[in-house]
Order: sequence, then C-alpha cells, then structure tokens
Amino acid sequence: MQATFEKVRLGNRHLEEGVQALSSVAAAWKKLPWWVEPFTVAGVLIAFGIYSTAVIVFAGGQYEQYISPFFSFTATMDTPAWAPAFITAPMLLLWIPLGFRATCYYYRKAYYRAFFWDPPACQASAQTKEPRSAENYRGERALFVLNNVHRYFLYASFFVIAFLWYEAFRTVFTYDAGVQIAVGSLLWFANIILVSAYTFSCHSFRHLIGGNMNCYSCVKGGGARRKTYNFVSRLNAKHPQWAWYSLFSLLFTDIYLRLIAAGTIQDYVLISFGG
Ligand code: FES
Repeated sequence: MQATFEKVRLGNRHLEEGVQALSSVAAAWKKLPWWVEPFTVAGVLIAFGIYSTAVIVFAGGQYEQYISPFFSFTATMDTPAWAPAFITAPMLLLWIPLGFRATCYYYRKAYYRAFFWDPPACQASAQTKEPRSAENYRGERALFVLNNVHRYFLYASFFVIAFLWYEAFRTVFTYDAGVQIAVGSLLWFANIILVSAYTFSCHSFRHLIGGNMNCYSCVKGGGARRKTYNFVSRLNAKHPQWAWYSLFSLLFTDIYLRLIAAGTIQDYVLISFGG
C-alpha cells in the first residue's frame, strides 16, 4: 500500500512538473518578438498543406486494420469514371474538413495575420502598415464573403466526425484478429477525441446549441440545453488550442501509419483476444 501511495505521489509530482514546464514554455513564447507567431503559423500551415497534398495525391491510405485519417471512408472507394485522372478518392470528401478549417473564425485570424500581414499582430509595433480602428475595418469582402458559409461546413463535418469515430472503433474490432488494442488504435482515438473537441468547440456550434436563445426557462428542455451550452462554452474557450492539437494529431496518426507500413517501426499491441 505504501509503495502504491509513493507511486501516486511521484506521478502527481511529475504531472505538476509537466504542467509547470508547459506554463513556462507558454510564458516564454509570449515574450518572443511579435513576428515569431505569424512566421511560425505560416510555416506550419505551408508544411501541412504540402504534406497532406502529397499524401492525398500520391500515397495509399490503408495498412492492415488502419486507415489514414486523410482517407477515412474513401480508402476503399473508387473515383467515379467521369472524374479527371488527377482526382483521387479522398478529394471527394476532404473539401469538407478543408472548408471547415479554412472558414473557421480562429484559423481566419491566424492565416490573415500569417499570410496577409494585415495587421500581423496586436502589438502597436506590428500595426504600422494599417492601424486597426473601427473606421478602417472593411469586414468580409469579395472572395472572403464565402467565409460566411462556415456553419454549413460545420453541419457537413458531423458526417466526417461520425466516420472517423467508426474508423477508430474499427481499429480495435479488427474482424479477423478479434479485439486488439495497439498503439495505433490509441493514436486513432486520441486523434478523433481532439478532432471532436475542435468541431464541438466551434463558435457556430455554440450558437446552434444555445447562443441564439434569450430565455432557457421559457422553452422545453431549456435546462439541459443551458447545461450543454455551458459545457460547449468551456470547450469554446480553448478553441485555438483544439485547432492546433487536432491538426498535429491528424499528422502524427498519418505518419505513424506510414512508418509501420514501411516497416520502420512496429505497432505495439497492448491487449489482444478473440480472433
Ligand atoms: S469557429 Fe473554428 S471551427 Fe467553427
């Protein structure tokens, strides 16, 4: 018993040290010059764009019980006969998550700053090109008016989320091999949990759940709706973090699949029975 307490105490200490380390990284990040953030965002988004395009156009999406998250639902699909040769099956669905992220209120802030530099940050020293003020705000004009369809991408994303959850469970119930939990399955679950947190912390979802109501006690089921709204609001407060975590988990899960398919690493099976 004493040994168990000691283990828990040590575990808590490591957790506290981990949280402190993360807080100091966040504090150090805030002290960096203002231009570091837009440059980093631009670099990460460009790298992600190149990697995902290469995967979708040139690579396969399935290895044993795993499917690449980029290929969920479409891995076994053929492209229709009418489609030009450069169209691959994932492209038929990936416009949904791509459109969802491109029109996301948070990503818009991030890529306006990173790519349009207009202005690149909040600090006064970054506002020399065009200082922000109520007078010179021009709103969403020209092509950017399309950003207003964000809520429709959200509705379509519910289907994508359902398929990703299905794929996550499919990595565990592998049919031939019975039930098997391996590191790859854990990555799949971590990825779908983060992607779900990103999707359900969306500002449009928060509005859909309760942001459009003035009086919860005046409607049927108002109490449950208020509780859901409060929960979504807590998720929403961390929306930028979910946006980045889910992007990296998507990348990491895909890279893991490709490394085991190439034989560079082995998938470590934690639990296996049946089959
Ligand atoms: S606001 Fe970011 S996904 Fe909706």
